[in-house]
Amino acid sequence: MTTACAPGKVILCGEHAVVYGRPAIAVPVTQVRACATVAEAGEGEGLRIHATDLQLWHRVGTAIPAAHPAYPLETTVQHTLQRLGIAYLPDLTLTISSTVPIARGLGSGAAVATAIVRALAQHLGQPLSPQEVSDLVYQTEVIHHGTPSGIDNTVIAFEQPVFFVKGKPIETLRVQRPFWLVIGDTGIRGPTKEVVGDVRRAWQAQPERYEALFDRMGSIARQAREAIESGKVEALGKLMDENQELLRAIGVSSPELEKLIYAARAAGALGAKLCGAGRGGNMIALVRRGQAQHVAKALRDAGASLVIVTKVQSASGDGP
Ligand code: MEV
Repeated sequence: MTTACAPGKVILCGEHAVVYGRPAIAVPVTQVRACATVAEAGEGEGLRIHATDLQLWHRVGTAIPAAHPAYPLETTVQHTLQRLGIAYLPDLTLTISSTVPIARGLGSGAAVATAIVRALAQHLGQPLSPQEVSDLVYQTEVIHHGTPSGIDNTVIAFEQPVFFVKGKPIETLRVQRPFWLVIGDTGIRGPTKEVVGDVRRAWQAQPERYEALFDRMGSIARQAREAIESGKVEALGKLMDENQELLRAIGVSSPELEKLIYAARAAGALGAKLCGAGRGGNMIALVRRGQAQHVAKALRDAGASLVIVTKVQSASGDGP
């Protein structure tokens, strides 16, 4: 039996603009994760998927429409087997469970796909590199999101803070001084594919205005990188606030997100913004270590359905 897991993620800055070639920063969130377990099955049973949270069983190779909840799982398995050069369906049971909230900007689809790819590859004796896992998961992201930038599969497969530019080799971030994020869930689904599609239509209608807004978001991501790599946490907070203004300007915020962002700032957060596609899902607040519980309570009081506190640091855990 082989089990592999993968974390969730949040985007610190640059979402949406990253789809248009600007840089963005994302960090893994290890407090939530998806896991996949591969177990040998009896001869002739084929490859069956059991998605426990969805109470769903699916036999790989059975035709299903693209809208079926098992479709991304089936596709991930098929792509992985192809990549491993396995031309038959092995007799296996693949059990999947996840604590990453679905459709909340925390990368649930990419986390589940990453866990599946890792578990299958390890079980079949051909472990893959993070980049190979990321490339496979990207193909599943296309099913979920239409035109993904690739940031979710990258940060989740590498499990490190990343400075990401679409189509460029991954750059990991050196976090000079660890910092804390409080993540607040509006409890509302953030329909990534729909929101990304709306932004695309708005960009097509007003290319100059949107290009200028994306440029400013890209510049914020570059400054945020500098702030993170030199330990200037206050500066990072200001940049997050500026990023939120721009996200509001492209029409992806919502009254529920604004309410939580306002509550976090009023409770003393250094900066706060929505994260991911927006119109629902989660927001993040940057806090000093001692403030996390106070800001978390303020978010709960303001109606957050789930609050997660996470520490951001380099993968090795270095820094004070
Ligand atoms: C989704 O997590 C982030 C977006 O920028 C879309 C993408 O990068 O593919 C909204």
